[in-house]
Amino acid sequence: MSAEHEAPVLEGRDIVKDYGGTRALKGVTFAIRPGTVTTLFGENGAGKSTLMKILSGVEQPSSGEILLDGEPVVLASTSEARDRGISIIHQELSLAPNLTVRDNIFMGREIGGPFGIDYAEETRQAEALLAEMRLPIPADALVSDLRVGQQQIVEIARALSVDSRILIMDEPTSALAAVEVEVLFGIIRELLARGVAIVYISHHLEEALEITDHAVVLRDGTMTARGERADIDLEWIVRNMVGDDFDLGSPPTGYAFGEPVLSVEGVTVLDRENPERAVVDGLDLEVRAGEIVCIYGLMGAGRTELLEAIAGREAVAGGSIRLDGRSILGDTIAERLAAGVGLVPEDRQQDGLVQTFDVGTNLTLASLDDDLEHGMVSRRRERGRARELITAVTVKTPGPELPVGALSGGNQQKVVIGKIVGTSPRVMLLDEPSRGIDVGAKAEVFRLLAARARQGLAVVYSTSEVGECLSIAHRIIVMRRGRISAEFTPEASKDMIMAASGEAVAA
Ligand SMILES: Nc1ncnc2c1ncn2[C@@H]1O[C@H](COP(=O)(O)OP(=O)(O)OP(=O)(O)O)[C@@H](O)[C@H]1O
Ligand SMILES: [Mg+2]
Repeated sequence: MSAEHEAPVLEGRDIVKDYGGTRALKGVTFAIRPGTVTTLFGENGAGKSTLMKILSGVEQPSSGEILLDGEPVVLASTSEARDRGISIIHQELSLAPNLTVRDNIFMGREIGGPFGIDYAEETRQAEALLAEMRLPIPADALVSDLRVGQQQIVEIARALSVDSRILIMDEPTSALAAVEVEVLFGIIRELLARGVAIVYISHHLEEALEITDHAVVLRDGTMTARGERADIDLEWIVRNMVGDDFDLGSPPTGYAFGEPVLSVEGVTVLDRENPERAVVDGLDLEVRAGEIVCIYGLMGAGRTELLEAIAGREAVAGGSIRLDGRSILGDTIAERLAAGVGLVPEDRQQDGLVQTFDVGTNLTLASLDDDLEHGMVSRRRERGRARELITAVTVKTPGPELPVGALSGGNQQKVVIGKIVGTSPRVMLLDEPSRGIDVGAKAEVFRLLAARARQGLAVVYSTSEVGECLSIAHRIIVMRRGRISAEFTPEASKDMIMAASGEAVAA
């Protein structure tokens, strides 16, 4: 049966949400139907997460009505929503880092036995879920020891462990590689066959289109377009999201590269859990001033470890790393940052931002030396620079004073990028920087990187989206099992690059 004919299972009517002076939702009506995927598209800050938080009991609407099976309900808390069959996978990972995977999955609804919590049963169920998600980690692993992508899978497993009728997925795949996304999509299809209603939010537009039945576009807190799968395509989404046609652009040209800025030779990083294994295996990489190099690879290929080794966050077991010809291996993280190695880390929540500080302070924190006047930090200069950075990376915020945690997910990611731009690096290392960033903002970030590259910045851009490599990079290297498995120019085809990563290319 097609989506329009089924009665909605969950509906929001005229939903308004005010945060102080910001009206995040301006009267949105939104229906979710059983056995279908409704995808929600919209720019960063459009109100997608806010709407989903209201439909899952995380937040209360300022006005408007929620109907479940046609009856008005008040969802006063997430546990109440869960009891009614509504689960949400949050955009910002919400796991407790110092607990095990199992405890996170069953938090708040532990399985009871005759002698308290039945850990054996919880472990059994958790491991079954992890196996279903093809994540080979023990249920008693600590969440803090997992990579972001793995944490994201645990977050999904937790939502799947509840038998839900309505499953909301807010950017569930931002840290996943293509094969893992396929696993998730397989699970989504099974859930649909069982009649589960799914809401899916993603800035990976092509990926989202693959499972869309019904698409909805939010713009500035208002619903601006809706369409059935047969009637929409990528162009429709982009046009409705950002207002016109647009394109990510191509690598900057018309200038000569300078001297090598970053020289990595024979660098080896050992696996923390299994030091017999090298996650980066004798790797060589040279990046010249003005050059943008893209590193493409699957999750686990060693991209993050390589970038972290360059920035001083991972111990190097062998090889050399030089900046402008000088070895930086003996330098601390802070010394490398001061020397011009800027890393935009994979995990913005853990490494990138201080959630309780305001937007401006987060942007300028790493480069406060620039704001000194007579040995003291000048508040006026600091705020001025914060405003410049807000404009440079197009953060959607009323001003530098807003707590960074009140920004939408994509805008928080822009702050992490802006913070590193603010340090005026010699080489900028970006680890999956486009996670959660909308197409328009991605194009802005690309323009910014291109402009800085023209001025001599060396850029290393790590991504699992091939299209990004082709739009930004002068040179694309593919990493596989800690080594460079191939190198391409931007004239290469997507399929060639994906094949070199070991990824199955769709026929
Ligand atoms: N706790 C809060 N306090 C103040 N403003 C908030 C708060 N939470 C969200 N907002 C604001 O509400 C608006 C909508 O944010 P929301 O997180 O819903 O956007 P989004 O569409 O999910 O964006 P993204 O694609 O970046 O995740 C933004 O302007 C955001 O700054
Ligand atoms: Mg969001």
